[in-house]
Amino acid sequence: MTKRFAVILAAGKGTRMKSKLYKVLHPILGRPMVQHVIEQLKPVNLDKMVTIVGHGAEEVSEYIGDDSQMVLQEEQLGTGHAVLQAEERLKNQEGITIVVCGDTPLITHETYQALFDHHEREGAKATILTAKAPDPAGYGRVIRDGENEVKRIVEQKDATDSELLVDEINTGTYCFDNKALFEALQHVSNDNVQGEYYLPDVIEILQNRGEKVSAFQTPDFEETLGINDRIALAQAEKNLKRRINEKHMRNGVTLIDPDNTYISPETIIEPDVVIHPGSIIKGNTTIKTDAEIGPHTEIGNCFVGQASVIKQSVANDSYIGDRVKVGPYSHIRPEASIGNEAKVGNFVEVKKSSLGDNSKVSHLSYIGDAEIGTNVNVGCGTITVNYDGKNKYLTTIEDDAFIGCNSNLVAPVTVGKGSYVAAGSTITKNVPEDALSIARGRQTNKEGYASRIRNQKKD
Ligand code: UD1
Ligand code: CA
Repeated sequence: MTKRFAVILAAGKGTRMKSKLYKVLHPILGRPMVQHVIEQLKPVNLDKMVTIVGHGAEEVSEYIGDDSQMVLQEEQLGTGHAVLQAEERLKNQEGITIVVCGDTPLITHETYQALFDHHEREGAKATILTAKAPDPAGYGRVIRDGENEVKRIVEQKDATDSELLVDEINTGTYCFDNKALFEALQHVSNDNVQGEYYLPDVIEILQNRGEKVSAFQTPDFEETLGINDRIALAQAEKNLKRRINEKHMRNGVTLIDPDNTYISPETIIEPDVVIHPGSIIKGNTTIKTDAEIGPHTEIGNCFVGQASVIKQSVANDSYIGDRVKVGPYSHIRPEASIGNEAKVGNFVEVKKSSLGDNSKVSHLSYIGDAEIGTNVNVGCGTITVNYDGKNKYLTTIEDDAFIGCNSNLVAPVTVGKGSYVAAGSTITKNVPEDALSIARGRQTNKEGYASRIRNQKKD
């Protein structure tokens, strides 16, 4: 089989973004642009991927990991110069090289595959992925001759008035015969308005030599959107959001207001889940059937079990079992594990703790570094006192225990199985199994005292 390679251009400064952040690291639905590109290239089965990066590259490597090699382009002298940086890694290889811009994150693997198929079928030396743009401003235009053959690409800034009227744009994605690409790149000059080495000039060079150059026009311009500024960034977020939301709705998920529902590409949602407006679901999240999320809920990297309900809450990096009730206004912080049928009620924060099946923390509590068994009731206002300013300590509450309201459990401490803690206690010592522990000042009633004081004041 013909070998396939990819070069991803990601070294541009992204001046038009006006940002400290490297352009291709700007996230769309929580995932950096360049990572979207890499994820969509993977199914195409490439033998090698090379990503061209500029300064700030250290950060980019975090996101591309082992999927792609990285090459530094010291100075950004144009897209043609950028591709040349991959020469060391690809020269003399027989095969097809797809070149993709790191700032076109919405192109799907189906489109990449269709481009490869077209290129192979045509036996072309170069194939451009083009699209008809409702507003082509800013893009390179595809110039064809009388026979409708592609002649060259002209950049917006170099185009004549009549060329500017062309609405077929260069998406910045191409398939090339690998050897022909690197040979032609030697002949690209920077004699243009921007003084850059343009990759699209390779098309004209090959064409002038009588090599076969082809174009594959995708019907979906939206997919090919290039992100050069924050307006396009917002547009990309909107388009991708719609694509993902429609996929879930087709799979049987109810989204009450898809325009106001943000779901990461990695999220898995089973049918009959209902998602209310203002919900943001990030990272690797799985939501099982019949669960109900939102309104106004943020969930990141969580497992949410069957028929669980999470309202007006925030949950991250945690496990939430089946038929759990969370919220309104709960905060489930990393490494929490909430058992089946458990409840985490309003104004309750849970961090790095486990709550067993059928246990309840219904109101106004902080549960940090705790292991709580099954059928435990944690009363309103209970606090696990887990931190002495230096170290964190564990609170253990065994099965069937009952913690009265407004208790402090000063860790390290264990409340034994089935025992009771009286309301308002500050527990500093272990409570044995089946005991009642009262740790608070005794009440004294001074009868008649109040009116005595009131009468004194009158004098
Ligand atoms: C480019 C194309 C244009 C096309 C458009 C599609 C050129 C000259 N123009 O224009 O025909 O319609 O994309 O979106 O290719 N980059 C580098 N090193 C550089 C310069 C750029 O790695 O020295 C990278 C950028 O990070 C970016 C990509 O190449 O991801 C495209 O560069 P950009 O400056 O955005 O090109 P456009 O003006 O959008
Ligand atoms: Ca661009």
